[in-house]
Amino acid sequence: MKKKLVFATNNAHKLSEIRAMLGEKIELLSLADIDCHDEIPETAETLEENALQKARYIHERYGFDCFADDTGLEVEELGGGPGVHTARYAYPDRCDPVANTQRLLRELTKKSNRRAQFRTAIALIENGEEHLFEGVVRGYIATEERGTDGFGYDPVFSPEETGLTFAELGVETKNKISHRARAVEKLCRHLLGE
Ligand code: IMP
Repeated sequence: MKKKLVFATNNAHKLSEIRAMLGEKIELLSLADIDCHDEIPETAETLEENALQKARYIHERYGFDCFADDTGLEVEELGGGPGVHTARYAYPDRCDPVANTQRLLRELTKKSNRRAQFRTAIALIENGEEHLFEGVVRGYIATEERGTDGFGYDPVFSPEETGLTFAELGVETKNKISHRARAVEKLCRHLLGE
């Protein structure tokens, strides 16, 4: 019988990306597939704890092996922020990607240290054991928005040695080198026993 695994998300893009990497060996289920429509709490102070919190929530209530992810943008000049607050950087009660990007550019006005990294943590609960996987891409915050592809902070994040922002590089190139791709690759290698 195929192994069933829940990904604690309803993001169709993330699901199809990971389904393609896992192939036929594992049946990947979304939250909707297990009839979970809860607002899963994400109240921890680190990416790892947030990912674990989401994975544990599903495992405890639904009994499935499962994994969850959490991503943050960590900017040196901001002491590693916005980090765990990346999605709600501009407004604590909602995710406004345009306002988030504008706030970031404003905070870094005239700052010379623009080093930053995107980091994704994935927490997996498998046969009762917890595992963590991390993916990082280092780079810089641009001085203005550039490019039209992608989402979120893509127009202002420039991965090292590219000279372009994620939004200029395009989705295909981005998805080969991104924080999420790197974390997902480690997860898939573990699940497929490679
Ligand atoms: P999540 O944990 O995947 O929901 O990501 C949290 C927040 O980080 C999102 O709301 C986005 O603002 C930002 N983010 C995550 N991944 C990316 C990316 O690949 N490009 C740009 N922004 C991202």
